[in-house]
Amino acid sequence: MADFATLDTLDVSGKRVLVRADLNVPVKGGRVTDATRIERLAPTLLALIEKGARVVVMSHFGRPKGKPDPEYSLRPLVEPLSRAIGGRTVHFAEDCVGPAAERVVDALAPGEVALLENLRFHAEEEKNDPGFAKRLAALGDLYVNDAFSAAHRAHASTEAVAHLLPSAAGKNMQAELEALAKALEHPERPLAAIVGGAKVSTKLDLLNFLLEKVDVLVIGGAMANTLLLAEGKEVGASLVERDMVETARAILDKAKGKTLILPVDAVVAEKLEPGVSTRTVAIDAVPAGTMILDVGPATVAEIAKRLAAAKTLVWNGPLGAFETKPFDAGTVAIAKEVAALTRSGKLLSVAGGGDTVAALHAAGVADQLSYVSTAGGAFLEWLEGKELPGVAALKRRR
Ligand code: 3PG
Repeated sequence: MADFATLDTLDVSGKRVLVRADLNVPVKGGRVTDATRIERLAPTLLALIEKGARVVVMSHFGRPKGKPDPEYSLRPLVEPLSRAIGGRTVHFAEDCVGPAAERVVDALAPGEVALLENLRFHAEEEKNDPGFAKRLAALGDLYVNDAFSAAHRAHASTEAVAHLLPSAAGKNMQAELEALAKALEHPERPLAAIVGGAKVSTKLDLLNFLLEKVDVLVIGGAMANTLLLAEGKEVGASLVERDMVETARAILDKAKGKTLILPVDAVVAEKLEPGVSTRTVAIDAVPAGTMILDVGPATVAEIAKRLAAAKTLVWNGPLGAFETKPFDAGTVAIAKEVAALTRSGKLLSVAGGGDTVAALHAAGVADQLSYVSTAGGAFLEWLEGKELPGVAALKRRR
């Protein structure tokens, strides 16, 4: 973290600290259904409160298309946010800039917290507009970015504003960056990666980057089907990207000299439906008309063997159609294996991405990995080796 100022190095007492949070949490019927992002933000807010800062929290919520839309108001987040910081009052400003915001921020006493209305109610936010960033910066003396999961967006509140105020990484941002650096920048080897999901086309950059970094690459999910097809295997009626077969061949070539683990067996069915009748077959015996919907037990055993020999793991993407039972079995078995190896101190494990985190929750082990990122898109871009604009903007200017 040498490149970043952190909360520990900021003198915040009595100052207005503008905190970029990611309160883009799942909400159903007005209730937050997963408060992880709020809970991960709390240590930053509590540290600032403790030091007597006047804390101004800003965030986006959903994709309201650049104008106010009650459906995307952050007001329902006031109460969950207050709960996460020990029941302290959270004042709410009806706008994130201008007089409505200024009134609430000016009235804050040291140690008090305000939440501003959704940043994306202004189209200038997503345009990284310098004038809008100035209006945001006018609400703070210091800027803290604690939203790693929004750091892949070059928006006014994540990028431009960082250049206008003394800036630092919040505790959650710091934890994410440190965990990710341990996993991919200077990992203990062997370093393994598991990549799953539906499509090779959405994970091309990621596969190419990982092939340069890792010792073992496990590929599962429907994207493995396209690679199997490129190897000349019959994949029946499985989901494949036929137009990506050439690209898949190039990936196979690039993987020469690395350990690439593709499924050696599969659980197949005629349709993707809960409780449908299934068969487990060797990967070169997939019956015509059936779909590969999960990795089979021989593949699970092979992956487990490789993980047992690895010291570090990064994981993005499920190994099968995990939302539909029984096609969650392969992903769940590997999740449990990863958790057990992590618990016994043999493996440093980092996972991220919405589906992966949902699968870890379904397997009951989401709290047993070394680090589970709260980020979706930002985690993916980091796995692609890209510099995230919100992180780059925090770097100390030399
Ligand atoms: C996320 O949920 O991944 C972040 O909050 C970013 O949201 P966005 O994809 O709408 O920019």
